[in-house]
Amino acid sequence: MPHVPAGTRGAVITGWGTALPPKVLTNHDLEQMFDTSDQWIVERTGIRERHVGGTTVGLSIESGRQALEMSGVDLAEIDAVVLATTTPDRTVPASSAAVQHELGLRCGAFDINAACSGFTYALVLAHGLIATGARKILCIGTDTLARITDWTDRNTAILFADGSGAVVVEAVDGPGQLLGWDLDADGSAERFLYSDIGGLIHMEGKEVFRRAVRIMVDSAQKSVAAAGVDIADIKLVVPHQANIRIIDAACERLGIPMERAATVLHRTGNTSSASIPLALADALSAGRVADGDLVLLVGFGAGMTAASAVLRWGGGAEPVNPL
Ligand code: UT7
Repeated sequence: MPHVPAGTRGAVITGWGTALPPKVLTNHDLEQMFDTSDQWIVERTGIRERHVGGTTVGLSIESGRQALEMSGVDLAEIDAVVLATTTPDRTVPASSAAVQHELGLRCGAFDINAACSGFTYALVLAHGLIATGARKILCIGTDTLARITDWTDRNTAILFADGSGAVVVEAVDGPGQLLGWDLDADGSAERFLYSDIGGLIHMEGKEVFRRAVRIMVDSAQKSVAAAGVDIADIKLVVPHQANIRIIDAACERLGIPMERAATVLHRTGNTSSASIPLALADALSAGRVADGDLVLLVGFGAGMTAASAVLRWGGGAEPVNPL
């Protein structure tokens, strides 16, 4: 169901950060590992290289620290760390607890798993926490998929990779940036993309592709309707970075020109929960978004989940003074 945020205490993003492990795996490296070619991977996915290595906690600390520094927040005012991940370092405790400790925070910390839709789920959740009284939230999306990728399976190994992106979300007076959102899941599609505990990723690529385009378009349209805006006025769309052909097809059906899409997958691969914050940070750093612009985040993933959100960048309000 689409929703319009309730209450008057809104939020805005005031800082962001990213982390990619140093090791780069190119398509040519993959050619040495199984029967594939750089040309096939580029034509069928858009991916040229990806970063692999590191831990979910380590990458989250790196992106989280950057986001905190950029926002300039007083660490005492962070009320929660919300970490979206499909690949926690341990089953228990949540990876967010270690991140909270290492960043010198004293606040709530929890992980959420909505696969590649995870960051958008976390961002909507952060707005909900702020609507109910939280002041500032560190919201992170991190995945270390290399650890659960079958490096002999050319159907999946060409896609998946590691990375992290984080934002600081702060309370403001007034409605803030979140104009509309949609969260969805269809558990009946679980068999198309899954990994058992201790196992590796299994994927029926064609079926996931087919459903991905449909559910991205559906979710984006619900968020845009909930926000009460015209899709033609979306300045930047930040889609999940799985395959350039999925992004292309979804943009075409939504009537959004590809030039308005943020894409980093050519150099990051599919980093699941990290893909939207990595692409968002890239677009922000390139100066592609100004205050007042409409930004559409839209993702899909295992579950099969979907999530989208329409943001009015800057929210048009001053941060709330701490109590
Ligand atoms: O975060 C969400 C996660 N997942 C996704 O979003 C994935 C969605 N699916 C996809 O991105 C695509 O389905 C893939 C990239 C996984 C595969 O692309 P495709 O266009 O669906 O290829 P296909 O599986 O239909 O295979 C086409 C051909 C086949 O050969 P034949 O039967 O036509 O002779 C495959 O054997 O390409 C062959 N092929 C490859 N060739 C070189 C499949 N994988 C490869 C490969 N390198 N890695």
